[in-house]
Amino acid sequence: MLDENPKPYPPSDDFVKNAHVDADRYKAMYEASVSDPETFWGEEGKRLDWITPYTKVKSTDFTLGQVDIKWFEDGVLNVAANCIDRHLKDRADQTAIIWEPDEPDAEALHITYRELHEKVCRFANVLLSQGVMRGDRVVIYLPMIPEAAYAMLACARIGAVHSVVFAGFSPDALANRINNCDAKLVITADEAPRGGRKTPLKSNTDAALLHCSDKVRCLVVKHTGGQTTWIENRDVDVKAMMETVAPDCPVRPMGAEDPLFVLYTSGSTGQPKGVVHTCGGYLLYASMTQKFTFDYHDGDVFWCGADVGWVTGHSYIVYGPLANGATSLMFEGVPTYPDASRFWQVIEKHKVNQFYTAPTAIRALMGQGTEFVEKCDLSSLKVLGTVGEPINPEAWNWYNENIGKGKLPIVDTWWQTETGGHMITPLPGATPTKPGSATLPFFGVQPVVLDPQSGDEIETVEAEGVLAIKDSWPGQMRTVYGDHERFEKTYFSDYKGYYFSGDGCRRDADGYYWITGRVDDVLNVSGHRMGTAEIESALVAHIAVAEAAVVGYPHEIKGQGIYAYVTLMNDQEPSDELRKDLEKWVRTEIGPIAKPDHIQWAPGLPKTRSGKIMRRILRKIAENDYGSLGDTSTLADPSVVDDLIANRKS
Ligand code: WT7
Repeated sequence: MLDENPKPYPPSDDFVKNAHVDADRYKAMYEASVSDPETFWGEEGKRLDWITPYTKVKSTDFTLGQVDIKWFEDGVLNVAANCIDRHLKDRADQTAIIWEPDEPDAEALHITYRELHEKVCRFANVLLSQGVMRGDRVVIYLPMIPEAAYAMLACARIGAVHSVVFAGFSPDALANRINNCDAKLVITADEAPRGGRKTPLKSNTDAALLHCSDKVRCLVVKHTGGQTTWIENRDVDVKAMMETVAPDCPVRPMGAEDPLFVLYTSGSTGQPKGVVHTCGGYLLYASMTQKFTFDYHDGDVFWCGADVGWVTGHSYIVYGPLANGATSLMFEGVPTYPDASRFWQVIEKHKVNQFYTAPTAIRALMGQGTEFVEKCDLSSLKVLGTVGEPINPEAWNWYNENIGKGKLPIVDTWWQTETGGHMITPLPGATPTKPGSATLPFFGVQPVVLDPQSGDEIETVEAEGVLAIKDSWPGQMRTVYGDHERFEKTYFSDYKGYYFSGDGCRRDADGYYWITGRVDDVLNVSGHRMGTAEIESALVAHIAVAEAAVVGYPHEIKGQGIYAYVTLMNDQEPSDELRKDLEKWVRTEIGPIAKPDHIQWAPGLPKTRSGKIMRRILRKIAENDYGSLGDTSTLADPSVVDDLIANRKS
């Protein structure tokens, strides 16, 4: 049983002395941010450089049917100018990006702000030469290489809207996203090396483009030099072309509410949603959270270990740190290659000051023993962070003892693709932490715990229910790309007047928030978010499958594993071969991250008389917990359950 109220870990006096924000300042700033958001954000907005300053700060409405979110709406700025050009005066020769390659013996790159400026300008000129215009969508399907950041910032510079697709996604998933946002161009590389293996990104892109308009052009970064097919008049060698275009490119003035990017994320229905973030509010929020949550100081080396294919990489590898003139580390590899000391080697090599990773990585490394940590010098570290899923106290303690040596603040940051940046998180100089709690809200964030049935706010300090947010913050998503109705329905219709997060939570006697996980049909597998419906529709697209139901179950390393119940067509016989074939099928339909951990053949699925699948029961069976199946009286055919229990794969 979990200790419901463990002893908090306060920050050390030394840390507090140098911190941007201590406990008193947090209280005062938080209070100011929620009692008068106009004034608070009106002031904070000045952190950015505006071409035309805003006169309006906040106009936001959470009312179903008229949801509308605008921040700094009449301000004009350019995101790339804020992340690059404005730093050239004082820090042109400071490293903006440290790039650590997959192979430890290959050369790391130190890209200064001056070099970043030139690369991004050249990249932008390549995009312009291909006819990319303001507002056009550009899909980026790249490995963790500097060109990924150049491409994002080049889009921002000319007002194009990027949509980064994680390099682990399959050709089908890529095609789906290119088509959904009607992209003009896709940027890819020959191959993506990771952990000593190479993913053939260009041939994946070739396969994807078979399902797209033949007008979509393809820019290719020759990264490994591996062989690829080449289609004249469609494929362009970006690096070669960058040499031929001008090294400077003017920035395009953009409205604060013009879209900056679309990022696809999973929900409880089949088709992933294109989350839209805009220029002004998003950048301000990413930059403020990077500075305060990690207590980033000038000259620090900041390392966010996420992939740029996820929002964490957008906000904390690229936009937040660069807006702050930081040095941001980008790592191409994986924590366990060549061995389990790689993270700690990289920290030693580049003298990393703030390190941000996911609980799943911590759990995986924890299992490898401490000798991989002990041989590395981690004395540069000042702050540790985690993100993506609830962190179990064992993993928190291991991180604290072995990486933090019992002395460093750990920030457990709760947020989502939709929120743009941290929402509930400790500030390292201000907030005593408790293992497993994301603690308290960031400035301007008003979390509420709602009763899931009535939708009423639970007013008592101690509360348990679903987590919602009462009012807007600048980093909030503005719409679902091309489907504002879906935006309203997903986030504002279940609980009227609030932004509903999809997570359950508990608030303890100190007002600390403990996220208990998703309350919808969304899985969190190794910090990757996936809809059960997406995996189900992939499975039923297979010729042998009649019906499928997917649920999550607790998994020691991944947090959640994927458990699939599959009903075969009448003429199909279950076999190990078919099981393998289905696993492979899901990998090609979505990507390796969606491969089921368990497939159970299910002659029938438990359904209500109206035909609704009773997932609650399927979850219990997957968890091996048959004692408490709950109310089964509404089942159309109770024998189905007995059969599933009898044949559960152990
Ligand atoms: C979901 C959002 C933007 C962060 C990366 C994942 C879960 C995220 C935590 C945390 C407990 C967390 C939630 C959330 N989650 N951080 N610190 N503690 N749960 O972004 O793919 O949009 O997923 O991840 O369930 O709703 P995402």
